[in-house]
Amino acid sequence: MRVLVCHRLDEQVMQAIEEFPGIEVTVWQQAGPMPRQAFLEQLARAEVALTMLTEQVDEEALSHAPHLRLVANVAVGFDNFDLPALTRHGVMATNTPGVLTEATADIAFGLMLVAVRGMWAASQAMRRGEWRGWSPTAFLGRDLAGLRLGIIGYGRIGEAVARRALAVGMLVAAVKPRHRAVEPLPGVEWWERERLVRESDVISLHVPATAETYHLCDDAFFAQMKPGAWLINTARGSVVDTAALLRALDSGRLAGAGLDVFEEEPLPADHPLFHYPQVVMTPHIGSATVETRRRMAARAWDNVVDFLSGRPPRDLLNPSVWQGQPDSL
Ligand code: DGY
Repeated sequence: MRVLVCHRLDEQVMQAIEEFPGIEVTVWQQAGPMPRQAFLEQLARAEVALTMLTEQVDEEALSHAPHLRLVANVAVGFDNFDLPALTRHGVMATNTPGVLTEATADIAFGLMLVAVRGMWAASQAMRRGEWRGWSPTAFLGRDLAGLRLGIIGYGRIGEAVARRALAVGMLVAAVKPRHRAVEPLPGVEWWERERLVRESDVISLHVPATAETYHLCDDAFFAQMKPGAWLINTARGSVVDTAALLRALDSGRLAGAGLDVFEEEPLPADHPLFHYPQVVMTPHIGSATVETRRRMAARAWDNVVDFLSGRPPRDLLNPSVWQGQPDSL
């Protein structure tokens, strides 16, 4: 059984992978994402691949991979997978749910705090020598306590952000999930999306990247938002129309934003977003802690071990492949 690991992972997990009996492991050792050509060449030999969200597993990749049986994404998001194509090709796909919830919620909450208190702009001004001494009117942000947070995407991460917001005295509303029965945390109110967009002081996005959520935040969305509100995005870049976001910042409709994900990653150094001090940005680090990345690698590997042991992988995204039935995704 040939196993491809597309990026060197946490060393404890690597040791478990490299010592697993009866498999031949190929690890991409270079820093940075695997170049497409190298990925296609390696995938052509592999039966199992541990992929990062930077590897696109699409029709082209699958047509190069006649032996492939399982792709285990080291991420909870799987928009780098063409799931219907994987299912058509009879290849199982897995992700890593539940292990990066708290780390990602921390980054969402952190971006919100830094944006709403204007900490990034104040810190930059200080570095430029513009701090003239304590002033009752300079560098004013807003109190988080009492502001209304609106959550779009009330899954595990959305709920963990709500928990943090409630703890500091924010009012919290969320759009009720349509496809799952879920109770809101005490203190969280279900609001229709339109009301939530109109009345929230801060909107935090926690939806997956799908055709339905593509450019969910467009000109019309920003025009509906409460003037002077903030937008936080730790979900996926494609959920926000960047050009519309820039227009909303220029018009002053948006007070600021906190962004961890971008339509174009890595964000080019000359991107216009860098000109807005009220926009706080981090380079897609929602899950980037030692503990969380270890759990993600371990969870992806658990899925592979399930498969190697003849069990259905625990986080199987296309169960019909295991059942031997092409499904109708
Ligand atoms: C995920 O798991 O989808 C995250 O974006 C990776 O940090």
